[in-house]
Amino acid sequence: MTIDIGPNAVDGAGSAPGGGTILLLGAGRMGGAMLRGWLAQGVPASAIAVADPSPAPDLVELAARTGVRLNPVDGAPVDTLVVAVKPQMVESAAAGVQAALAPRTLVLSIMAGKTLADLRRLFPAAGSVVRAMPNLPAAVGRGATVAVAEAGCPADRKARAESLLTAVGSLEWLADEALVDAATALSGSGPAYVFYLVECLTRAGVEVGLPADVSERLARATVEGAGALMGATGQPAAELRAGVTSPGGTTAAGLSKLMADDHLQSLLNATLRAAAQRAAELGGTGPKA
Ligand SMILES: NC(=O)c1ccc[n+]([C@@H]2O[C@H](COP(=O)([O-])OP(=O)(O)OC[C@H]3O[C@@H](n4cnc5c(N)ncnc54)[C@H](OP(=O)(O)O)[C@@H]3O)[C@@H](O)[C@H]2O)c1
Repeated sequence: MTIDIGPNAVDGAGSAPGGGTILLLGAGRMGGAMLRGWLAQGVPASAIAVADPSPAPDLVELAARTGVRLNPVDGAPVDTLVVAVKPQMVESAAAGVQAALAPRTLVLSIMAGKTLADLRRLFPAAGSVVRAMPNLPAAVGRGATVAVAEAGCPADRKARAESLLTAVGSLEWLADEALVDAATALSGSGPAYVFYLVECLTRAGVEVGLPADVSERLARATVEGAGALMGATGQPAAELRAGVTSPGGTTAAGLSKLMADDHLQSLLNATLRAAAQRAAELGGTGPKA
């Protein structure tokens, strides 16, 4: 479905800090999380419009409560167009928002696999283009996002992209777009690796005698707690590990198996290689699957 954004989509009554007006194209899981992050960070609701043909009830409620404009039909160029539709929907979605583009417009895309060149083709009248790749924990404000800007993107527009992306977690700028596939393999797919670690720890806990439900709760809480500790201390992971490993103790006995012959390292190397190759295939930067 296409939404036509004509003149005055965002009336400019409010403006995002350092950011001006924003049009969010697609407010599903990720776009909706970003929208909530911006509002929590103090971006004025009057600076934001959302284009989504079938908004979820909680989005309709949020818009009514905050004053974010939903599906405006009278549009004007915006300062930032955030593209958060599924990649396969973007051709038709883009057709409906061409009137929102002007030389001052930054297009900030979070679509997997859509390159800077794709974005330039889809949004030719935009002044600048930034491609970002968040991950699932962005939904709870703890995302790990990477971003790459089109050559020549002015610093103030990169700063604008940065302030919108860091509303849902951390951000790493990449100097080379080719690195997006590698980052996708690590941080994009990474939450699934960690969930699998919890599954394996749960089964291993059962193996050493714990009831399955107790084992599952302990595995979850251990991963959550270890992550929170790493975040709170900022200490390198290797230092934290050494700190809980007394010579001859139980952790040392466990790690002697886990770290033997670098098996786990080799496995993770192969894991990221496979994921990066698949990202390249899907994104059109490598051989097709
Ligand atoms: N979820 C993740 O972990 C993750 C991580 C990194 C990147 N991303 C990227 O983020 C993007 C969004 O993913 P998501 O998980 O948030 O998907 P999603 O929940 O399906 O959200 C997409 C939203 O766009 C709406 N939409 C469809 N056609 C549209 C149109 N023509 N105009 C405006 N809005 C339209 C959809 O409405 P309907 O539901 O009615 O179709 C939906 O609300 C994708 O490009 C994905 O690659 C997601």
